[in-house]
Amino acid sequence: MESNHIPVLIKEVVDYLHIKKQGRYIDATLGGGGHTRAICEQGARVLAMDWDKEALETARQHLLSCLPAQASPDVVFAHSNFAKITEVAKEHNFVPVDGVLFDLGISSTQLGSARGFSFTQSNLLDMRMNPQAQGVTAADLLNSLREDQLNELFSQTVPKNVAGTIARAIVRARELKKFEETRDLVAVIDRVQAGRKRSISPLALIFLALRIAVNRELENLKEGLKGAVEILGKRGRLVVISFHSGEDSIIKNFFKEQEAMDNLKILTKKPIRPSQAEIAANPRAKSAKLRIAERI
Ligand SMILES: C[S@@+](CC[C@H](N)C(=O)[O-])C[C@H]1O[C@@H](n2cnc3c(N)ncnc32)[C@H](O)[C@@H]1O
Repeated sequence: MESNHIPVLIKEVVDYLHIKKQGRYIDATLGGGGHTRAICEQGARVLAMDWDKEALETARQHLLSCLPAQASPDVVFAHSNFAKITEVAKEHNFVPVDGVLFDLGISSTQLGSARGFSFTQSNLLDMRMNPQAQGVTAADLLNSLREDQLNELFSQTVPKNVAGTIARAIVRARELKKFEETRDLVAVIDRVQAGRKRSISPLALIFLALRIAVNRELENLKEGLKGAVEILGKRGRLVVISFHSGEDSIIKNFFKEQEAMDNLKILTKKPIRPSQAEIAANPRAKSAKLRIAERI
């Protein structure tokens, strides 16, 4: 699997991490390795984590071949959920740490993989980031959740009336045939939406809601942020990039709570957004929001 992921807001991430030579940084979401590489190139040490073993291995091979020989021993790789960031950091002697980066969601490489993250190609409805350890797939959720549960799940990303109609159509469709492939879900959503005027296709948003649920992304984010604050040294930076409002409001509220407890100082009153030039070069950057806080 070749990585074709372009790192988002890379200059801003490097600037705000305030990278010190020989400092210790954690990239909690290694992905294609673009941010890790940029941090290493500043002469720092990086603990790079990813929950997706395939992504981790691809990035490891790539980084070891492109980083200068003297820099490559300065990256340590860990296949782990960032919800366990405290344990992983202790295990690798990265406490206290000078900075932690979270660049949330999935990479372009994963989107193009055969795991069913995308509605543009038909694959099994899987969506697990770590298939070796996770049991429940997107197909399992579609085939087993009650209509009200599906409705609630989809309401996180689409308007309530759309969520309700799609949930009802799914329950009817599965009485005839269980959901197996992404095209089964695409067909139901297309049927429900036929003839309706809409500004944004609910397809991407329904796929997003399922991915968030399969991977318990919001729960992992809360745990990961909490763990990061525990291991950050004084004046260490917490840098978080999110791509949808559910994530961003968790980050914003977490930062506020921690500031009230004198644990963090918020450095971004409003999130930093990519420039028009970055969005033109990398459309995936469009919805990115960057928030930064400093450990007190
Ligand atoms: C947007 S990509 C990161 C891209 C990366 N910053 C780069 O420069 O290429 C997000 C990555 O986070 C990983 N990820 C998502 N949730 C995770 C979790 N709970 N723990 C660890 N890694 C996770 C995904 O597998 C994916 O590789």
